Amino acid sequence: MKLNAEELKKDFPILKRKIYDHEIVYLDNAASSQKPQVVIDAIADYYSNHNANVHRGLHTLSEEATELYENARKTVADFIGAVPQEVIFTKGATESLNRVAINWALHNLGKDDIILTTDFEHHSNLIPWQEKARIVGAKLEFVEADEKGEVSAKQFKDKFEEFGTRIKLAAVTHASNVLGTILPVKEICKIAKEYGAKVSVDGAQAIPHLNVNVQSLGCDFYSFSGHKMLGPMGIGVLWIKRDLLEGLEPYEFGGGMIDEVSFDAATWAAAPEKFEAGTPNVEGALGLATAIEYLEKIGMDNIREHEIELNMVLLNELQKIKEVRILGPLDPTKRTGLVSFALDGLHAHDIAAVLSGLGIAVRSGHHCAMPYHVKKGFSATTRASYYLYNTQEDIEALIAGIKEAIKTFS
Ligand SMILES: Cc1ncc(COP(=O)(O)O)c(C=O)c1O
Repeated sequence: MKLNAEELKKDFPILKRKIYDHEIVYLDNAASSQKPQVVIDAIADYYSNHNANVHRGLHTLSEEATELYENARKTVADFIGAVPQEVIFTKGATESLNRVAINWALHNLGKDDIILTTDFEHHSNLIPWQEKARIVGAKLEFVEADEKGEVSAKQFKDKFEEFGTRIKLAAVTHASNVLGTILPVKEICKIAKEYGAKVSVDGAQAIPHLNVNVQSLGCDFYSFSGHKMLGPMGIGVLWIKRDLLEGLEPYEFGGGMIDEVSFDAATWAAAPEKFEAGTPNVEGALGLATAIEYLEKIGMDNIREHEIELNMVLLNELQKIKEVRILGPLDPTKRTGLVSFALDGLHAHDIAAVLSGLGIAVRSGHHCAMPYHVKKGFSATTRASYYLYNTQEDIEALIAGIKEAIKTFS
């Protein structure tokens, strides 16, 4: 069923705000999405009625908080086709990716081993690998986006054919936060398996927009944040394939993650507790679970269809403006709901400032993908990113704003 973005807007209290007397047009969803009232209410209800520390008390509030927390884990697991034991709550995609680097890479990579990635990754899926590679003497190898801003499974295959089993890990984004490009992750996983390599997927820009099933993707680790998918900030997920859970060392040590402790040593609880030392972010987890239930009610396929329609409108309109250079695929079905672009003779910050004056929120800068921007000769680009509550009118307002910016600065 086609979604009604105008109706959905009403579920998001912040979208009723006016900015400089303009209706807010929020097009910065790739940075963080807005929150529906149900998510805000779920968090308020938790603190109003159920708050206590989890896993530790036998009293009613602690039991209720534990149940809410563990039910949230089950909701997340069902959403991505996993089992609850494989779902580790973190504070966001950045922490999840760092955990793979620390818990797995540091223990499993050695001198001259290779981590295969792309040249347009978010810094959170680049720097953790750079740092661990430096410590163990491993190297990074990059698959480069072509002129359309796409990468093919064949490019990954070529790298595996060249470097063989020296590639121990493919660390790739599922969808690019700069190009919008959706990567052929399933095929990449298949190729990596043939060479015995593990695959860590950065799903931060994919999971809010696509139907994701970690089993059918065939990856080993999948990381994402709650705040880009209508959930609160400070909560994220690291999914770890079940076979790997036992062999992985904890990352932090303390309360809640032990089996037995003596003055000399300790043994660990089973996953997921083993990876969640200390008091967890209970309200974050249940806020995320509520966001997932909201998304499921609308339907991920409907959200995808809506975003492809918005892609179509925006890409068409942008191509009519001669000063515009679009990053990423021109095929609206090959990207998630975001478009980054540069305007000849106009700095991205100036465009964003003009748009902000009109109540339109976009992002300008290098979007945490500085190496790609530098390589392509862009000091900065402007990124419009939308979600289920954005309408065609929002895109039209953006186009009118871009034209106004061009007029203002020419
Ligand atoms: C592709 C990608 N990976 C990772 C991250 C990091 O997410 P967070 O800041 O929520 O940890 C982002 C955030 O923009 C992203 O777009």
